[in-house]
Amino acid sequence: MIRLIDVYKEYDNGTKALKGVNLRIDDGEFVFLVGPSGSGKSTVIKLITAEIALTEGRLMVNGYNLNNITPRQVPYMRRTLGIIFQDFRLIEKKTVYENLSFAMRAVGASNREVRRRIPYVLKLVGLEQKADRYPGQLSGGEQQRVAIARALVNNPSMIIADEPTGNLDPQRSLEIMMLLERINELGTTVLVVTHEKNLVNRFDKRVVAIENGRIMSDGTGGYYNGEKI
Ligand SMILES: Nc1ncnc2c1ncn2[C@@H]1O[C@H](COP(=O)(O)OP(=O)(O)OP(=O)(O)O)[C@@H](O)[C@H]1O
Ligand SMILES: [Mg+2]
Repeated sequence: MIRLIDVYKEYDNGTKALKGVNLRIDDGEFVFLVGPSGSGKSTVIKLITAEIALTEGRLMVNGYNLNNITPRQVPYMRRTLGIIFQDFRLIEKKTVYENLSFAMRAVGASNREVRRRIPYVLKLVGLEQKADRYPGQLSGGEQQRVAIARALVNNPSMIIADEPTGNLDPQRSLEIMMLLERINELGTTVLVVTHEKNLVNRFDKRVVAIENGRIMSDGTGGYYNGEKI
């Protein structure tokens, strides 16, 4: 579960990016976080992943209190999260399989766990035939599916994606959202940041809208400020 209570974030240069954000995401939910450029979406994500620290307020992530988390605990907190970026961030010199095994080794998985888990996640994202390819030999949509597989290999309780379809065409974007929906149906909480209103409209999900550092609306069914966006 994620909980932000009266969260403020002011960057070093004085920019007030968040101005009293309250947000609760329960286990098993699928949530779209939407809003204009500069409204504070990535700031919310970076606070949750402990990439940056909050200025004021309280923040809980999957049982960890980020107000007093120690540097040693941060990697354990992050293991509860699978993080997906707009630009995929795969290791170009490693194959698909190696990208995934590397992520598992980094948290101490055994050979046996690696051999069992990777075929399962590759099948889930529909890339079981492409384990030996290098990222440069895959389409953008395929690379993003590898990134999703990598986010899933260590069995996080929550997937967080910041503009995962920003570099993809509409058809590929739809496929990625449908994949995230399926992952959610299998039990993983999903938080997706997106600009793409058309995409949000195609799914009947909770939509949290942020504007100018404040939550402006929060509702189900692809509604935004009381209107279908
Ligand atoms: N490292 C930083 N230092 C100073 N200001 C920052 C920093 N990162 C973001 N900001 C500012 O904080 C505000 C919120 O930025 P944020 O990146 O959260 O927006 P966003 O909603 O993710 O926008 P986009 O849709 O363009 O990705 C903006 O005014 C931005 O300029
Ligand atoms: Mg952003």
